[in-house]
Amino acid sequence: MTKIRSVVLGCGSYLPEQVVTNAQLAARIDTSDEWIVQRTGIRERHIAAEGEFTSHLAIKAAQAALTDAGLDAQSIDLIVLATSTPDNTFPATAVAVQHALGINHGAAFDLQAVCSGFVFALATADNFLRTGAFKRALVIGAETFSRILDWNDRGTCVLFGDGAGAVVLEAQEQPGQAATDRGIVTTHLRSDGRHKAKLFVDGGPSSTQTVGHLRMEGREVFKHAVGMITDVIVDAFEATGLNADRIDWFVPHQANKRIIDASAHKLHIAPEKVVLTVDRHGNTSAASIPLALSVARKDGRIKRGDMVLLEAMGGGFTWGSALVRW
Ligand code: ACO
Repeated sequence: MTKIRSVVLGCGSYLPEQVVTNAQLAARIDTSDEWIVQRTGIRERHIAAEGEFTSHLAIKAAQAALTDAGLDAQSIDLIVLATSTPDNTFPATAVAVQHALGINHGAAFDLQAVCSGFVFALATADNFLRTGAFKRALVIGAETFSRILDWNDRGTCVLFGDGAGAVVLEAQEQPGQAATDRGIVTTHLRSDGRHKAKLFVDGGPSSTQTVGHLRMEGREVFKHAVGMITDVIVDAFEATGLNADRIDWFVPHQANKRIIDASAHKLHIAPEKVVLTVDRHGNTSAASIPLALSVARKDGRIKRGDMVLLEAMGGGFTWGSALVRW
């Protein structure tokens, strides 16, 4: 029986111009290139310019994704934007993107699941497309984490960067076979608020009326990450009958090379199938997966028909996976 699937028509990304290397951070705080590379794999990150907001990055990523898809913005009727660093408390950054693209039909809203935001947004858009509520969606991950970092806390400020990425999805009828259909074949989302104090921002409109700074118990996050990531990927395999051998590309959330390596190893995913951008982008939270997808599309790795496995884990904790045939 045929099935409606959300097929990826294009992807795009944008990184702010300014690059900050580990050596530049080491000139300002008590850290070193060696420590950062050894613990995280990060070598440099992009940082937004003064006056450059999350929406500005998101608009550029969305435009690049539309160009890649060969589509006019008017054909988009849904925008789901994942961010934890919106321009304002409200309205949603998604409506700023919608307005800049000249769209005034359909719906646009933000979604907040921290580093898992893109996977949650992809699953949300997929569900709307499969029910027939919307036809074409822009799913965006965009962040300016540099604005919520405590630049005196060496345990966190070396880890993050700014950027945005986007994909265009279209509802298309497919034969209904998880093993061969194009599009999103399964998504799995989880959260567990018992861990909410392990990675959080110590401010907000209702609690402090300030923006606050990111606080993290790094070891605690590390301890849970690999187990949560691999669990939700096993769920995706069980739901589809696919396995690690059937995956062409593993595009994980780019938080830390050690977490990525350990997850791939545990799942028996060959290292050459892993797309890594954390060295050049740092952790860009909800933007990291579409940024990595964009890199692997541009350099010719991800091709039409390839099976791509996405996963993310972040504050909440939240975590999730998606299997997408390109
Ligand atoms: N430079 C130099 N030394 C540092 C730095 C730094 N930037 N940061 C911390 N240290 C020091 C600490 O002060 C400590 O020194 P001490 O032993 O004298 O007290 C020592 O290094 C070890 O500190 P730990 O925090 O225990 O270091 P750890 O080996 O756990 O590495 C890290 C820290 C990299 C944050 C690690 O815990 C980690 O990767 N955690 C996962 C967190 C993560 O990836 N978060 C991203 C957001 S969540 C997500 O996206 C999944």
